[in-house]
Amino acid sequence: MKFVKALASATILAACTFGSASAADLVVGFSQIGSESGWRAAETTLTKQQAEQRGIDLKFADAQQKQENQIKAIRSFIAQGVNAILLAPVVATGWDEVLQEAKDAEIPVILLDRTVDAPKELYLTAVTSDLVHEGNVAGKWLVDTVAGKPCNVVELQGTTGSSPAIDRKKGFEAALAGKDNLKIVRSQTGDFTRTKGKEVMESFLKAEDGGKNICALYAHNDDMAVGAIQAIKEAGLKPGKDILVVSIDAVPDIFQAMAAGEANATVELTPNMAGPAFDALATYLKDGKEPEKWIQTESKLYTQADEPMKVYEEKKGLGY
Ligand code: AHR
Repeated sequence: MKFVKALASATILAACTFGSASAADLVVGFSQIGSESGWRAAETTLTKQQAEQRGIDLKFADAQQKQENQIKAIRSFIAQGVNAILLAPVVATGWDEVLQEAKDAEIPVILLDRTVDAPKELYLTAVTSDLVHEGNVAGKWLVDTVAGKPCNVVELQGTTGSSPAIDRKKGFEAALAGKDNLKIVRSQTGDFTRTKGKEVMESFLKAEDGGKNICALYAHNDDMAVGAIQAIKEAGLKPGKDILVVSIDAVPDIFQAMAAGEANATVELTPNMAGPAFDALATYLKDGKEPEKWIQTESKLYTQADEPMKVYEEKKGLGY
């Protein structure tokens, strides 16, 4: 079933508004998770920029990491009669009811950067990376780097119940499957934040003979890795050497750490999810053409060999 009302009310507008700098009649609600990481903050900045460039009136709601706040925001967007809703879902489950309400109100919902466990017909499309692949790329890098040597790995997971935490773990474990030299000895959530990443890494170091039993850290995002790097240094060890560090996001700070030899690799996740989302919405509202259910963004591996300070400079100013 199509989101007929949004289409009817917006088609006329879209024909003359999308892609034009002067138009400003489309109203889009954006329920953002919060600002737990540098990546998340950049996604918010870029979504606002992309909306402004296209003349879209963006209603922004920060959920402070709470699903209940996201559900309230979606209900408020529905009550306001927005033309579409962007949702970056904090966790994967528990969305069916509110997505059904948006569908009943004929308001298309586009998922940004995370997936949900809900019937596909309840949303228009999802703009995300291949989250399992990201974990797999990080895992393969580690397998190749340790080259058969024994290696105890500690893992900092993202927010419990979120699709990146579930899938990045899955992909990493798949890369390590059958490699008897590599063992995940500790795995705990650091909630995608720098503070918790540091805190949990401190507990890992204590539990593993001050870190002497740890060969590598896999963090589900760069912010947790940056916090953990600090903990490793405070424990008197050298991050990037005594303990290898691989993570995901490719935010500027991790390139600084890589340039200093304190981080080894990261898998890039673009914070510009809104660009492809607005493009898909424009086509849908103009022609009624439903996009693919998944608009996949790239996952590129960066290592210390990739001129980290150059990448840092390029990244700075790109929404970070
Ligand atoms: O969903 C994407 C993840 O959420 C990013 O990797 C992380 O930094 C963010 O908080």
